[in-house]
Amino acid sequence: MSVPYNKLYPDHFTAEDYINEETYKYTRAPVESAMTIIPDAFTNKTFYGIEQDKIFGNSWVNIGLTAQLQNPGDVIVADVAGQSIIVTRNKQGELRAFYNVCRHRGVKLLNNDCTAVRSNRIRCPYHSWAYDLDGKCLGTPLFEGSDIPPDQQGVFNMKGVAKFAKEDYPLFSVHADSWGFLIFVNLGENPMPLLDYLGDLPQRFANYKLEEWVIAREKEFIFEANYKLVAENFMEYYHLPWVHPELIQVSRMEDHYRWQGPGMYTGMTTWPISQGEDGGWLGLPPMSSLSDINRESARFIFIFPNVAISVMPNHTFVMLTKPDGPARTIEQTWILCHPESLEADGSDTELDQLTDFWTLVNEQDIDIVQRVQAGLSMKAYRGGRMCYHFEEPIHRFHNMIIDKMVGMERVPQGDAKEQLPMFTSD
Ligand code: FES
Ligand SMILES: [Fe+2]
Repeated sequence: MSVPYNKLYPDHFTAEDYINEETYKYTRAPVESAMTIIPDAFTNKTFYGIEQDKIFGNSWVNIGLTAQLQNPGDVIVADVAGQSIIVTRNKQGELRAFYNVCRHRGVKLLNNDCTAVRSNRIRCPYHSWAYDLDGKCLGTPLFEGSDIPPDQQGVFNMKGVAKFAKEDYPLFSVHADSWGFLIFVNLGENPMPLLDYLGDLPQRFANYKLEEWVIAREKEFIFEANYKLVAENFMEYYHLPWVHPELIQVSRMEDHYRWQGPGMYTGMTTWPISQGEDGGWLGLPPMSSLSDINRESARFIFIFPNVAISVMPNHTFVMLTKPDGPARTIEQTWILCHPESLEADGSDTELDQLTDFWTLVNEQDIDIVQRVQAGLSMKAYRGGRMCYHFEEPIHRFHNMIIDKMVGMERVPQGDAKEQLPMFTSD
């Protein structure tokens, strides 16, 4: 008789166990015989702290959209691995990112809801030291706008102070880059280039011109489940007939394929994409630049560690998940379109319908992942077996998590076939 699953592991894991390969040996097994990752990955505070550091502090983390940073001085203030990060565009239109802290006495510079700075300057609210959009320290303090008479400003100024040069006090910079409509930051010191991290994704999406897509709708969801449960749920269609009775009408099980090349992502596709009886999700016109196969496919990509994109020929649904503790997630969602698809008459009505559709699907998913979160805290459950025809992407995702937790930097290889049927009994 095989060993019961709940006897495979010690009663408790230590912090040391979480970064030890041995802990994950049943998950590392080939997908046909692998167990899901240990439930502590979703419930334990110590695991969460280490994961924040090793995954979110050392990966290309999505923090928002290029459409939010169109002009110099536009800003996103993002929380990444417990650090507040300012992401902006400089005067040349290049992305720049910095730790959100003043070099003087350490004030947090910008509020979380800041979306732009005035006069292209990041200015400290405490003693008015100011920085440009490249992080360079401009003034200590910057007197502009103050009522201190010019002849008294010298008292405040650091100019001429021995062993102080403001050039030595720029903001602490962070790596930032974008692909398509997504902006990423990486807190690592010397990260692999974003393009190496994404593998063949840019090539797969070349004729979508994703960098031109604009925001059509947005909505935030907050719920009580670990962010990885959202990711896992996104990667499998196994739950469709039971959780999404409406979706299964327009997205048939047998039309699903794995669609994964090398890269820090998991991918699935539906082909041919179904219209549904009332025109379904294809009411808006598709982009004209798409190849025939892209025009008939829906692409579902999860980019490690935190963003899901569902790319249709005429719109994309983006889910950016932000962990807020082991059992809480803030999810920012957007519907994006290429401007071409928005030109048609009635696009507003179509977008309203799409918003209703994605909200329904997303709420059904949130309900079920909250139930998974509740179940995972049962001490009897120490991990389960996957239905590997459908759940190989989850295995790939678990392996990426484990790689980071144990300090292994590598990008997974892809499938041998371009489209691998998932609904098969072979
Ligand atoms: S702390 Fe920022 S200027 Fe003093
Ligand atoms: Fe779902």
